[in-house]
Amino acid sequence: MIIGGSACQKLAAKVANELDDYLCPVESRKFPDGERYLRIKGEIEKEVVVIQSTGYPQDENLMELFFILKNLKSLGAEEIKVVVPYFGYGRQEKRFKSGEAISAGIVAELLESAGASELFCVNLHENSMADFFNIPVQELSAMPLIAKHLQNILDDPVIIAPDKGALGHAQEISSILNCPCDHLEKTRISPEVVETRVKNLDVEGRQTVIIDDIISTGGTIVNASHLLQENGAESVTVSCVHPVLVEDAIMKIFATGVEDVLATDTLISEVSDISVAPLIAQALR
Ligand code: R5P
Repeated sequence: MIIGGSACQKLAAKVANELDDYLCPVESRKFPDGERYLRIKGEIEKEVVVIQSTGYPQDENLMELFFILKNLKSLGAEEIKVVVPYFGYGRQEKRFKSGEAISAGIVAELLESAGASELFCVNLHENSMADFFNIPVQELSAMPLIAKHLQNILDDPVIIAPDKGALGHAQEISSILNCPCDHLEKTRISPEVVETRVKNLDVEGRQTVIIDDIISTGGTIVNASHLLQENGAESVTVSCVHPVLVEDAIMKIFATGVEDVLATDTLISEVSDISVAPLIAQALR
């Protein structure tokens, strides 16, 4: 039995189709004062899968997820597998300045106490986030799906990580495509501003692909795209797992002259063309 939260209706339906499982209808809406009303309309089975990303509006999606989980528990569900394709608040996994809330850890605790018995996520921003949980956590990688997509449109590209943190993703894709990979050097000045430099980059006359886990403001990709073109790249394609895409991020990225932006459907966006449904279905199976 599969339940899809508001942020993952289409994805939940696709996963239910892949697994040939019952997709349970949920009524989730707001009262005039802004408070949430939630009703699970089907017969509750003992084992349930709940799929909900916790991107924007983060707090609303989280609260809805907590309502679903607590409600399922009190209606008799015994085992609840929670799939959070995009884990919001995942970038605050430690105290960077004194007094800061460790948001990722708090969300993890709340999810667990709300009734999650197992968690599935797609490319967590930090692998260490799994340590916040006492329940089993499976982190799934969307890189093979992205690689398969790239294989169909590009011939022998160079895969570029826009910073060292994304190098693992670039390596995962380049090893599948059997092509070279490299990374740029990035320094974050503020949430909106990044500085990017190159080392010995060899992209002259090559088709390039920038791969990152998240595109948020787009600043990281804009810098990387400019640098690759300045260094003679024939073309730049951009790919990411989680298209957070704040405000006009997609416009800023396309304005640099990139060929395309390819993202997965962990979050709904105009570039979410690669579905992680088969990946989630396979993990649940
Ligand atoms: C940072 O470590 C992440 O992997 C992304 O590079 C970052 O979240 C992208 O943010 P923005 O699009 O705002 O530059």
